Amino acid sequence: MDWGMKNRMSRIFRAKDNRTVMLAVDHGYFLGPVSRLEEPRKTIEPLITYVDSLMITRGVLRNCIEAKYDIPIVLRVSGGNSIIGKDLSDEEITVSMQDAIRLNVSAVAFSIYLATEYEHQTLINLARLIDEGQNYGIPVLAVTAVGKELEKRDCRFLSLSCRIAAELGANMVKTYYCEDFDKVVKSCPVPIVIAGGPKLRNELDALEMAYAAIACGAKGVDMGRNIWQSRWPQAMICAIRSIVHDNNSVKKAFNLFNSLKK
Ligand code: R5P
Repeated sequence: MDWGMKNRMSRIFRAKDNRTVMLAVDHGYFLGPVSRLEEPRKTIEPLITYVDSLMITRGVLRNCIEAKYDIPIVLRVSGGNSIIGKDLSDEEITVSMQDAIRLNVSAVAFSIYLATEYEHQTLINLARLIDEGQNYGIPVLAVTAVGKELEKRDCRFLSLSCRIAAELGANMVKTYYCEDFDKVVKSCPVPIVIAGGPKLRNELDALEMAYAAIACGAKGVDMGRNIWQSRWPQAMICAIRSIVHDNNSVKKAFNLFNSLKK
């Protein structure tokens, strides 16, 4: 790996433990003003000091985040779909590598949709993006999307998606936690971070998921709704952080959450 690529990866994954707490706030690219992210600046700014990197679109980055923050950016560069459109999987590359570099990003993120009509299109575009990333030293995070079909989130499907993304050259993969998650991690030769998915019943469930994923070998989280849709987003991000970086048990992390939310 070239120095520039290595350097960008090490901005995302902290040197101390090679793990990351990435905050996902890119949902608007297909969901529009999703609940609690209606005014991105208000949601994101209070959390910035607690996260290692931000996964975000260029529109929200340019308009809602001050350039003074020293926060590694993982730029969402796929889209072209919407929650009310015909097919969620019909995504293309939406941002040029030149613009990503202009924004001084640490990585770009692109979704792949296996077992959909647009599987081939998203995989080929991922490969093209990786080629461009290699040219300029920009790492690519592949996102193993499932669209509306949440039942696809099983070990077989996610192992296949993660492995194909890695085989195509993705530098890291974001996927969902599932039963037998250790098998997904073991069969993927690049770092895996987990998405949180839709808001779970309560914060304890989300902490349990983050803990289980890290215990199985995930290199961190790239969570959104289970953090900023919590009534106590700062307490939640600190509790998640304690699991990722301090190896806290679920119990300790939940105690921390409860003490901070007061
Ligand atoms: C979906 O691909 C979105 O881009 C989010 O980045 C991703 O789902 C992670 O956020 P959440 O934890 O809310 O699922």
